[in-house]
Amino acid sequence: MSYPSTVQAIAISKTGGPEVIEKREIPFPKVAPNHLVVKVQYLGVNFIDTYYRQVSKRLKCPEERAQVCDREGVYSPSEFPFVIGRETGGIVVGLPTDEFVLNNPDYKKRGYKEGSRVAVDHLSTHAEYISVPWETVYVIPESVSTLTAVSALEQGLTAISFMEEAYNVQKDDIILIHTVAGGLGLLMTQLAKSRGATVIGTTSTPEKAALAKANGADHVILYKSEDTVSRVLELTNGEGVHAIFDGVGKDTFESDFLMVRRKGTLVSVGNASGAVPPFPPIKLAQKNLKLLRPRYYSMANYIVTLAEVLYYGNTLFSLLANGTLKTQVFKEYPFTAEGVQQAQIDLTGGKTTGKLVVKVSD
Ligand SMILES: NC(=O)c1ccc[n+]([C@@H]2O[C@H](COP(=O)([O-])OP(=O)(O)OC[C@H]3O[C@@H](n4cnc5c(N)ncnc54)[C@H](OP(=O)(O)O)[C@@H]3O)[C@@H](O)[C@H]2O)c1
Repeated sequence: MSYPSTVQAIAISKTGGPEVIEKREIPFPKVAPNHLVVKVQYLGVNFIDTYYRQVSKRLKCPEERAQVCDREGVYSPSEFPFVIGRETGGIVVGLPTDEFVLNNPDYKKRGYKEGSRVAVDHLSTHAEYISVPWETVYVIPESVSTLTAVSALEQGLTAISFMEEAYNVQKDDIILIHTVAGGLGLLMTQLAKSRGATVIGTTSTPEKAALAKANGADHVILYKSEDTVSRVLELTNGEGVHAIFDGVGKDTFESDFLMVRRKGTLVSVGNASGAVPPFPPIKLAQKNLKLLRPRYYSMANYIVTLAEVLYYGNTLFSLLANGTLKTQVFKEYPFTAEGVQQAQIDLTGGKTTGKLVVKVSD
């Protein structure tokens, strides 16, 4: 296939507020021999997109070339203009040409073909066409739509890997999920319920609470009008929960210590309210707690090796195909600067539920 010489992409030329997001023409991405080329149909909107463009003092990453710099919860673009986004889906229009890749048994197992519908987990992919290493590309099974796959990819892989590896959720566990009505929270709720746990969630409004309950949450606490700590202790006979998955960060971290039980686990998932400030490790000794701050992707995280990619990808798509996981699309935004700006404003404004996506092409 001959490719156009340029593509439209969603990029930033500097860090800042939503207004720095622009739609710009960039050269067609460089196609390496180990790459798949994908014509993009949908983009998934995630907090990580907002972390990359946030106004903040520019951080010095520990490794100078690292694209992700998690200190203070802020991620740092490697260069400008910087194409944002790490969740994308569409149709394969070009296959790798490297013989070594084509003969790799793991590559063959994936079954890529021209025309395959795929979901892509790779940074800087919010563009009309992308060229990405084949390892980051998941073939979507027939029974799952491209929209569903894109809506579930990042949050689904996070939910599954965190609930298996950060804290392995078991039958009869009591789990607390903050941001319970969000994209990640709803998937975590469905997953924890499918494993036989009791789910307590926190959220801001009765409408969001109703959605969380419809997705399986047993108890939902309205943190703006109820005392979350008292309610959690009441619901757990004073013992606290086995594990907390906390995507709020700064505003909830301190009280998490009061709601988790002795020998329990705190999983700091994200920073919707801002980053968690530094604290002394002795704080964990009050209840002999475990604390994790994982990412599912990138180097040295949960989904890195080919075996891990295959395992978690297959698990995600089989849970979507058999209905254990169901995505809820809050809104489809247009592929314009204004559309993506609005999506990020809505996501960080705390008013959304479920997943936000951008439609790029049919
Ligand atoms: N570590 C990873 O690899 C990974 C992967 C995916 C997501 N995450 C993290 O998981 C968290 C949830 O992500 P999501 O995409 O599913 O988002 P989301 O939950 O759909 O949206 C964030 C929600 O956070 C709540 N919130 C509480 N305090 C807030 C504040 N001060 N400002 C804005 N929102 C506030 C709001 O819900 P209420 O109205 O219910 O309070 C808001 O709707 C984020 O922190 C994200 O970074 C981490």
